Amino acid sequence: MENLDLSKLPKHIAIIMDGNGRWAQEQGQDRLFGHYQGVISVRKVVEAATEIGIQNLTLYAFSTENWERPEQEVTGLMTLFVDTIAKEVPDLHKNNIKLRFIGNLGLLPPHARAALENATTQTAQNTGLTLIVALSYSSRWELVEAAKNIATKVKKGNLNIDQISETTLSEALTTSDFPDPELMIRTSGEYRISNFLLYQLAYAELYFTETRWPDFRKEDLIKAILDFQSRERRFGKTSSQLNIDSEK
Ligand code: IPE
Ligand code: IPE
Ligand code: MG
Repeated sequence: MENLDLSKLPKHIAIIMDGNGRWAQEQGQDRLFGHYQGVISVRKVVEAATEIGIQNLTLYAFSTENWERPEQEVTGLMTLFVDTIAKEVPDLHKNNIKLRFIGNLGLLPPHARAALENATTQTAQNTGLTLIVALSYSSRWELVEAAKNIATKVKKGNLNIDQISETTLSEALTTSDFPDPELMIRTSGEYRISNFLLYQLAYAELYFTETRWPDFRKEDLIKAILDFQSRERRFGKTSSQLNIDSEK
């Protein structure tokens, strides 16, 4: 932790929490057991992010595609989400954490949606870490929604086609209130994005680890941030340009 450069922290970290099922199956347990253990990692990582001073943390908890999993796993996960939120909100609130949810929340059962809305309202005024949970989320769904949104504005005469910019698109996304992730972490040895924040990750640094999500702890988060801090983010420029810019 003391090796972290606090002036160079990523403004937003996004995590694909993968590997719960394999972690459980490797020890002869049901996949759901892995999801329950995964909640402990969420708690540890949220604590660590708060302690380090990260402003925005997005956790990919359930994708639109995950609805296609066996019914027993989907139902189990929904129960786990609702129970966890109900149980954790008081502590999150005490720690000044603001909760937000992104995704196609209309697909969630009404009681789950109510729990999310409750948690969002309760923590809305908090000024510490913003914890964004991507639930029933898919980036292609989000982009389609954004396109519809923008087209409606044009049709109604509230927006001129020539005025459509990158800002227009960013503002039409579910993440409009947050800066783009600067660091994206995926656990459990898969090297793909799986329909996560495709537009927003344009210039994120990607970090992959073999560690399964239920084993992921504060030290793993610190390792990922240290790796991020060792990288040269060029944004299309040359290395020497960056060195000149930093001397200005
Ligand atoms: C990630 O773990 C959690 C969710 C997708 C809900 P997985 O359930 O994908 O675990 P693996 O990848 O099958 O091991
Ligand atoms: C991505 O993990 C979604 C979440 C972590 C919530 P998956 O396990 O669903 O992704 P794929 O199927 O391996 O690409
Ligand atoms: Mg997986």
